[in-house]
Amino acid sequence: MTEPQASVAAARYTEQIVTKKTVWLSEKLFSLTITRPPGFQFLPGQFARLGLAVDPTTPLTPSEWRAYSMVSAQNANELEFFSVVVPDGKFSPAMARLRLGDSLWINKTVFGFLTLESFSDGEDLWLLATGTGLSAYLSMLRDPATFKRFKRIVLVHGVRHASELAYRNELLALMAQHKTQLIYLPSTTQEPLTLDLSPSLSATKLEPARLTTLLASGQLEQRSDLVLDPGRSRVMLCGNPAMVTEMRALLAQRGFAAGRRGIAGNLAVENYW
Ligand SMILES: Cc1cc2nc3c(=O)[nH]c(=O)nc-3n(C[C@H](O)[C@H](O)[C@H](O)COP(=O)(O)OP(=O)(O)OC[C@H]3O[C@@H](n4cnc5c(N)ncnc54)[C@H](O)[C@@H]3O)c2cc1C
Ligand SMILES: NC(=O)c1ccc[n+]([C@@H]2O[C@H](COP(=O)([O-])OP(=O)(O)OC[C@H]3O[C@@H](n4cnc5c(N)ncnc54)[C@H](OP(=O)(O)O)[C@@H]3O)[C@@H](O)[C@H]2O)c1
Repeated sequence: MTEPQASVAAARYTEQIVTKKTVWLSEKLFSLTITRPPGFQFLPGQFARLGLAVDPTTPLTPSEWRAYSMVSAQNANELEFFSVVVPDGKFSPAMARLRLGDSLWINKTVFGFLTLESFSDGEDLWLLATGTGLSAYLSMLRDPATFKRFKRIVLVHGVRHASELAYRNELLALMAQHKTQLIYLPSTTQEPLTLDLSPSLSATKLEPARLTTLLASGQLEQRSDLVLDPGRSRVMLCGNPAMVTEMRALLAQRGFAAGRRGIAGNLAVENYW
């Protein structure tokens, strides 16, 4: 997406500076922290549009824009983002090349309805993500209010390989802090997962399985020791659009649907492409 008129757009975004970079998996997964624009407000689960100056003829003007969920807690001093590197992408490889002190532009407006505000009160919160879909949930899990609102929170992170389980140490620490309230269930599709990578589980080795398979086979509920119940469970889906579509259909059979016309539902979804 190219901004048509830089002068018109200028008022809509601000230039920020990269202050921290974490590479989770070389050439595949990284996080960037940037300075936070004054007055920038968001709800956990929302996303902003980030801009990069990728056109060499205009190195001081952002020319390419992409949506990114805020990973940071909503009251954090800086803003953190978690990104995949799409090998042929116009944006993510350039973003991955940014270094400390480089510029990243951010739109002043935030977007998105994948927020806890979209739900009526419930008891259990299920946060299901593939890949970088985890981003939106990290912001929620960094917010103490989420733990006050729900009795149990199940975070399911589906990736191809165990090496892609970014933020794992932070999630394990949160799990230790919140004892039985938070259940972190990593899941891999291209290799088995061993017990030390998924301490919530009693099995010694987990065969590769997509989230859709885990739901349909009942393993998701078995592994978390919780029942998906439309009356008391609130479910979020985020990441790969095919996963979202298929999970949505499976969940519809179980009585889950997104809210409509101002009526809160028990399902909220976000597609990343
Ligand atoms: C609401 C929203 C929030 C988003 N939040 C994030 C985020 O927090 N982190 C993040 O990495 N991306 C996020 N994305 C995706 C992001 O906007 C870009 O698509 C991504 O950075 C790739 O940009 P690109 O130009 O390199 O490739 P693009 O040309 O944008 O995408 C090319 C292809 O790469 C694949 N792809 C794109 N994004 C991803 C992804 N995240 N994971 C796996 N495959 C992907 C798809 O097959 C897509 O067709 C979000 C998208 C939306 C709509
Ligand atoms: N094609 C490849 O083999 C490959 C390998 C490495 C990287 N890449 C590149 O890396 C980028 C990001 O890849 P990613 O692995 O982070 O994201 P991804 O492609 O969205 O995969 C993340 C996880 O989602 C699962 N998934 C995909 N479709 C699903 C569905 N319909 N239902 C349930 N689960 C589903 C995948 O399982 P599955 O493993 O079963 O698909 C995987 O475990 C891609 O855009 C691609 O360019 C591609």
